[in-house]
Amino acid sequence: MQRKRVIGNWKMNGSRGLIADVIDRVCADSYAAEVSVCVPFPYLADVRNQLARHELKVGAQSVSEYDDGAYTGEVSARMLKDIGCELVIVGHSERRRYFGESDVAVANKLARLLEVGLFGVVCVGETLAERDAGKAEARIEAQLAPLHGLMAKGCDASKFCVAYEPVWAIGTGRAASVEQVAAMHGLIKRSLGSAFDVLYGGSVKAGNAAELMAIPGVDGVLVGGASLDSKEFSGICRAAG
Ligand code: PGA
Repeated sequence: MQRKRVIGNWKMNGSRGLIADVIDRVCADSYAAEVSVCVPFPYLADVRNQLARHELKVGAQSVSEYDDGAYTGEVSARMLKDIGCELVIVGHSERRRYFGESDVAVANKLARLLEVGLFGVVCVGETLAERDAGKAEARIEAQLAPLHGLMAKGCDASKFCVAYEPVWAIGTGRAASVEQVAAMHGLIKRSLGSAFDVLYGGSVKAGNAAELMAIPGVDGVLVGGASLDSKEFSGICRAAG
């Protein structure tokens, strides 16, 4: 059986104290799953150093869509690679919603990652209004469309995975149902090809992680709030098999 992926997304949370707590605790066990933590930019190097003796991977939560240059406040893919970052989340719904990231900008960011050999975690997901209007599938297909251009240029499943994160399930305590997850993961795999890993994200906890990861087509989980709690996060990592 293929290894599941468990990716923590700390969002704009954390401190040196939290790094010591969560990373130490999570590293105390070994897991069948591939475990990664995506932390805010200022903590990347600290976490990288702390993980140096462990199998866990460190990732960032965004990247510039531009190469190095006069783009004040931005962080390039090359810089992330340079400090030992291994993966980067792109297109999280919070970036799309609060920072106006378009589907095309997300594809540009992924292209920058691929150029330097960083693994991408591309988030897609519909809002509740889109789901209620029967437009969830169309929204996901629109978010996947720019990725096909990259695939046509030879970008394969070893370069990125997709995280299906319904916006209404993020941080709400209301995970999507087994049927909803199975249907959307099936759609994404039909669109990109079954070789691509598709993770589920949205209110994943230690208590529901095993059930979610047992759904056909679910290759792992992207975890927000629960990744800040060492006990919860290590519970999710163990639930991944
Ligand atoms: P959540 O967030 O686990 O807190 O719902 C998931 C995410 O935003 O990636």
